[in-house]
Amino acid sequence: MRVYVTRTLPGQALERLKAKGLEVEVHEGLFLPREELLRKVEGVHGLIPIVEDRIDAEVMDRAGKNLKVIACYSVGVDHVDLEAAQLRGIRVTHTPDVLTEATADLTLALLLAVARRVVEGVDPRPRRALAGLAPRAPLGPGPPGPHPGPRGHGPASPRRWAKRALAFGMRVVYTSRTPKPLPYPFLPLEDLLATADIVSLHAPLTPETHRLLNRERLFAMKPGAILVNTARGALVDTEALVEALKGHLLGAGLDVTDPEPLPPGHPLYALPNAVITPHIGSAGRRTRERMAEVAVENLLAVLEGREPPNPVV
Ligand code: DGY
Repeated sequence: MRVYVTRTLPGQALERLKAKGLEVEVHEGLFLPREELLRKVEGVHGLIPIVEDRIDAEVMDRAGKNLKVIACYSVGVDHVDLEAAQLRGIRVTHTPDVLTEATADLTLALLLAVARRVVEGVDPRPRRALAGLAPRAPLGPGPPGPHPGPRGHGPASPRRWAKRALAFGMRVVYTSRTPKPLPYPFLPLEDLLATADIVSLHAPLTPETHRLLNRERLFAMKPGAILVNTARGALVDTEALVEALKGHLLGAGLDVTDPEPLPPGHPLYALPNAVITPHIGSAGRRTRERMAEVAVENLLAVLEGREPPNPVV
């Protein structure tokens, strides 16, 4: 059986696939052109993609009838057409839990960078930009683990973030479609936006959450508030955010953007109060290695006829 992995993964997880006699092909570059993805998936039984790869019906059809499992190297699955997978009987899995501590750390880092204007005080010489989503991008050690905890379909667990916010003496409130059994006060979205000094986004990207923070809601935020987004860029209307950052909001810390990556010369780059990192929420070595192990375990389970531990569909 053949497996295609769209980027080199950190750690030894892929060795496990080879030891099982699977033929594993790995794309070694940082970026994978669409045409190459379409060519390489032909006839594969398993696919391990990263968030940057759009896995739609065309990819699935090019793979053909062999394809049994798409084992995402991510917790977010908005890059996969889940309906198309389901129609074709392809299982989709993801890597929940293992990256939420790392992402919550980055939420805090971005908040402090905006609130304390850290970046404006940093040496302005151009530096090497990170390709944050590449699994083996330059990685710090990341938080120690393991961290068992509640599951979610988004990368930025709200509870892990709330733990840090509380430790900093902040008062935490939350919103969601319906109140949840959380130990913080629930507020309807509009009330939360009107009163919070810091708004941190933790929702997965779905058709319902696309541009959740549209122009009207961005300008309904409390004047002088800070927005932090470590979830998905398309939760926010980027054009409206640029305007809101020119006086209405104090600043924004963004690990994710729409489009992503931002093209050179994008107006967000010109704003001193926007701190932008290249989707590095999960970019800790231990975290990225754990993600690889989880993706491989999910893939093997499906190919061996077992129920995968982290199914999405
Ligand atoms: C995820 O897993 O969804 C992150 O956004 C990328 O690591």
